[in-house]
Amino acid sequence: MAQTRCSRRRQPSTGIGEPVLKDLLEGKPLRHPIHPMLVHFPIGFLVLSFLLDLVSLVFPDVPGLLGGSFYAMLLGIIAALLAAVPGIVDYSEIRRDHPGKVVATRHMILNLMVVAIYGINLWIRSSALSDPKISLLPFLLSIIGIGLLSVSGYLGGRLVYDEGIAVGRHKRRTPTPQETIRLSTGHATKDGETTFVPIPEAEQLGNGETLRVEIDKLVMTIARIDNQLYAFQEFCTHRFGPLSEGSLHGFNVQCPWHNSCFDVRTGKVTNGPAKVDLKTFKIEKRDGKVGVLVTKDHDQKT
Ligand code: FES
Repeated sequence: MAQTRCSRRRQPSTGIGEPVLKDLLEGKPLRHPIHPMLVHFPIGFLVLSFLLDLVSLVFPDVPGLLGGSFYAMLLGIIAALLAAVPGIVDYSEIRRDHPGKVVATRHMILNLMVVAIYGINLWIRSSALSDPKISLLPFLLSIIGIGLLSVSGYLGGRLVYDEGIAVGRHKRRTPTPQETIRLSTGHATKDGETTFVPIPEAEQLGNGETLRVEIDKLVMTIARIDNQLYAFQEFCTHRFGPLSEGSLHGFNVQCPWHNSCFDVRTGKVTNGPAKVDLKTFKIEKRDGKVGVLVTKDHDQKT
């Protein structure tokens, strides 16, 4: 009978020490990423500050509005700095050649600009706390800050919804591949022809770790489990989640996006939502080199 879900067995240790703080900041103990949980606070406080500014323009006689705006801004900056810590850890985990890395870099730069602008704004306001009316410069800085914050929030949404950044990565116990290893069969092959492609990096792979390898546009994951290497297609058959960033449970790989599980030995789906099995590839050792056998004309999505 087919196994209906991934075993929850803990992934093997890499043997290089557990990065406890990094795991905490990625939300692994909570099984939820920390950065998206925290970003509501700076956004909420900074928008509140702006709203209080607007109200103070309409009702200049109401006391305490500018003071409230000042303290909301202060809390917003503190919350932004706190949210930045897990954000930077998430950023460091994005594969260098992932298309989302550029978007994440822009998101980070915009956020730093927002904090700097609000820091200046706060400093200007601190000397005019008792003024009855907001002056032009701090109000303009608030408008610019809110504008940049909105663009940055949009980029943050794109990172999650378009690029799948940080989705499900808190479930992974071992490091994710930092880049794609690009290889070639080295010659033009005919349809149906099988070629042995050495992958030297596979020999260095620790237990529970994965590599992302692209061979002439065929993208695959290499995983080491119980000292054996397995190769299977990189993209999940559900909605193309990156399986090299998934988590390993026994001989199953669990997709980081919607938790489909596949048996890495056979490619069979062991837990949905995926319904289609993965392609697997044979790993061999030839002339002392570890490599994978690829047959031309796989229709894998790249
Ligand atoms: S993309 Fe893998 S389960 Fe949805």
